[in-house]
This record gives sequence, C-alpha cells and structure tokens, in this order.
Amino acid sequence: MGTANDSSKDISDRLAEKHPKVVFVLGGPGSGKGTQCEKIVQHFGYTHLSAGDLLRAEKNSGSENGIMIQNMMNEGKIVPSEVTIKLLQKAMLDSGNDKFLIDGFPRNEENRAAFEALTKIEPEFVLYFNCPEKEMERRILNRNQGREDDNIETIRKRFKVFLESSLPVIEYYKGKGKVREIDAAKPVEEVFKEVKDIFNPKVPKVPKDENVEGRCMCCAIL
Ligand code: ADP
Ligand code: C5P
Ligand code: MG
Repeated sequence: MGTANDSSKDISDRLAEKHPKVVFVLGGPGSGKGTQCEKIVQHFGYTHLSAGDLLRAEKNSGSENGIMIQNMMNEGKIVPSEVTIKLLQKAMLDSGNDKFLIDGFPRNEENRAAFEALTKIEPEFVLYFNCPEKEMERRILNRNQGREDDNIETIRKRFKVFLESSLPVIEYYKGKGKVREIDAAKPVEEVFKEVKDIFNPKVPKVPKDENVEGRCMCCAIL
C-alpha cells in the first residue's frame, strides 16, 4: 500500500511494474462522466478514479493542502498537477486492479504533460463526452450532491476553464487518433449503448474465402 512517505519516483516505479491500462474520461462539467463510469465499472471490470472526487476527499481529510484545494475548487480552477497526480497514483496502487478509468483528468496541458513525464503511461484511448453547455448547466443545477461548486457562479467559471484549458487537451489526443467521441446529450442508457460499443468492439467477420477452416464446400473442392 502507498504511504505518505513514498517518494514520487518510488510510486511511479511501482506503478510502472503493474503495466496499468488507462482510459482518460473527459467532457465538460455535468456531461455525465461519473454516471457512465459507474456503468463501465459494472460491465468491464475497470476501477473508476475521479480526480475531482479524490481532491474532495483530500480536502475533507484535513490535509495540509486542504485549504488550497477548497479555494481552487470554489473558483473552478485546476489544482497543481503534482497534488492530483500523487492522489491518482496512490489510488491506482491501492486498488489492486490494473485497468483504470481516470475521470476528469488531464484537465489542462500541465496535467497532461506532468502525468506523462512522471508515469510514462500513455492512455489506451480518451473517451470524450460531448454535451451542449445548456444541458450540462441544467444537469449540474439538478445534481443535488451538496457540492459547494455546483452554484451558477462557479459553474460559469468551470465552463470557461473547460473551453480554455481542457478542450485543447482533447484536441491534442484527437491529433494522435485516440479520441472516442460520444454524443452525451442523449438519455443515460442511450449514451451507454455507444460507450459499450467502444469497450466491446464488434469483431469483424472474416470473409469466407479467407477462413480456411470454415470454408464452404465449393471452396474446399476447389
Ligand atoms: P460529471 O461527472 O461529468 O460532472 P455526472 O455523471 O455527475 O457528470 O452527471 C451530472 C448530473 O446529470 C447527475 O445528476 C446525473 O444523474 C445527471 N446525468 C448524467 N447523465 C445524464 C444523461 N445522459 N441525461 C440526463 N441526466 C444525466
Ligand atoms: O471533475 P469534477 O467536476 O468533480 O471536478 C471538480 C473540481 O475539481 C474542478 O472544477 C477543479 O477545481 C478540480 N479538479 C482539478 N483538477 C482535475 C480535476 C478536478 O483541479 N484534474
Ligand atoms: Mg464527476
């Protein structure tokens, strides 16, 4: 288990030994990342790590970074990568699993570059939940999870940060052919249908004349 005394190199080395498989789950605030991740966990055996949830737990634990995290979250700003990556790495090591959905991370270029440099982990792909801002706003205002940052003033700041800092990260991965984009404005089950197809790609049928064992009689005679 990871301890507070582990150096970042120790943690990174131990994590690398697991050869973890990582999917980044991105999308604006309220696009449904957490909702879909829960379903992916049930169907595909991943461990779900939400960067926002980890930061909230760290804040509530009374750690030395607690006040800083609270101030950043209330302004919708991105917490320095060093803090978030340490939390993600510890959670990955503690999980015992080797397949992870990393939700809400990387949120900006600094997150992305620091994670890559420190962990050397390249995501398998990036799931991007694309949702209109009006719909995201409606969902967040109805979320009712008692989150301090789910108020209209902070929501607007979070949307701005998403457009300015997070979309460029999605563009970066688009350039690498890694983005799997989903229309997240649909109802939960319809969105999940699309998600399932991405995690469970249909195996293309092998054409009959290439399938030696399954040859039809006329081909076998020829
Ligand atoms: P995120 O993690 O991206 O911020 P959540 O999964 O917490 O988003 O979803 C935000 C709110 O919207 C929650 O109250 C959730 O129940 C609701 N929600 C999620 N997906 C949908 C959807 N496809 N249609 C309608 N409401 C949704
Ligand atoms: O993803 P979620 O909406 O739970 O994130 C809530 C807040 O947590 C963000 O608005 C931001 O302040 C903080 N956060 C962060 N860095 C991340 C993810 C979330 O600073 N990578
Ligand atoms: Mg969430």
